[in-house]
Formats: sequence, structure tokens, C-alpha cells
Amino acid sequence: MFQLTLCILKPDVVRSPRLFHEIIELILQRQFIFVKSKRLQLNSERAGEFYREHQGKFFYSRLVHYMSCGPISCHILGRDNAIQEWRSMLGPTKVFKTIFEAESTIRGQYGVTDTRNCGHGSDSTETAQREIKFFFPEFDMKSISKYENLLA
Ligand code: PPS
Repeated sequence: MFQLTLCILKPDVVRSPRLFHEIIELILQRQFIFVKSKRLQLNSERAGEFYREHQGKFFYSRLVHYMSCGPISCHILGRDNAIQEWRSMLGPTKVFKTIFEAESTIRGQYGVTDTRNCGHGSDSTETAQREIKFFFPEFDMKSISKYENLLA
């Protein structure tokens, strides 16, 4: 089923033009459509709001600090099964788990820590809708069929 998902490329990736282009290339090779893209810098309030479900966890302030330390690159990606496909391309959140699949996932190849793990992907259709709205409030989710037809 055609789906949209939110992809964030984190500050370390944006800081490195070579890594940024490498990851964009990998996404394109996996037949994703870039529906909308924007580069922006979150302040700590906005980053805290985005990750509010993790408030209270030991890593929350580290995560908020990191995600507001420099520009991030946000993308609405579309393709069949986009949510699962983008998360499996990324690989496990926890970097130690990526040692078993270092060659095959983005985090496995380029992730540094559980925070500096290259990217973010929505984990369900409800989350994708909420997260897309967070970064692209102007985007009309009902326009999904327009993008689906590009693949037909
Ligand atoms: S959880 O609640 O432990 O299952 O968290 P998880 O869903 O794996 O990860 C959610 C986001 O928190 C970041 N994270 C961390 N940051 C710093 N230190 C540690 N130990 C840590 N563990 C998880 C992780 O990068 C996830 O961010 P996103 O943007 O979703 O990748």
C-alpha cells in the first residue's frame, strides 16, 4: 500500500555534504519519492515538543540538545510500505544492535551513538501523520493520491 512517512536526517548528516548526498542517493535507489523537503533548525522547545513522548527518559535532554544543535533535513517520503521500508533502511535505533548488519543499514554504516544515529523515521501511520503535520503544517495529507499516481 502506498504510504507517506517522515524522514529526518540529523545534524551530523547535514553537516557533512558527502554523507548527506550518499544517503539521499540510497533513498532514491530504494524507489522513494521525495514529496516535500525542507532544511531547518529546531530550537530546544520545538525539539522537546517533537520528542515529548520520551520526556522523563534518561536520554531526553541529550536527544533534545542534539536535535537542536544544528540544521536538520526533513523529508516526506512516499512509496509502497514507506514507513517500514524507511525504518528498515535506517536499521536499529541502538547502535550496538547494528554490529550484526553494519553493511546493510544506514545506522550500521554511519551511526555513531544512540543519539547520533543519522536519521529518524515514523513508526506507524498515525505517527507519520502527526510528524508530517509537525514539520509540514501546510501539506494536505489528502493529496496522497497525486503522489501515488506518479508510481503507477
Ligand atoms: S526507547 O524509548 O528507548 O525505545 O527509544 P527509541 O524508540 O529506541 O528511541 C527514541 C529516540 O531516542 C533516541 N535515543 C537515545 N538518545 C540518546 N541516548 C540514548 N541512550 C538513546 N536511546 C534512544 C533515539 O535516537 C531515538 O530518536 P529518533 O529520532 O527517533 O531516532
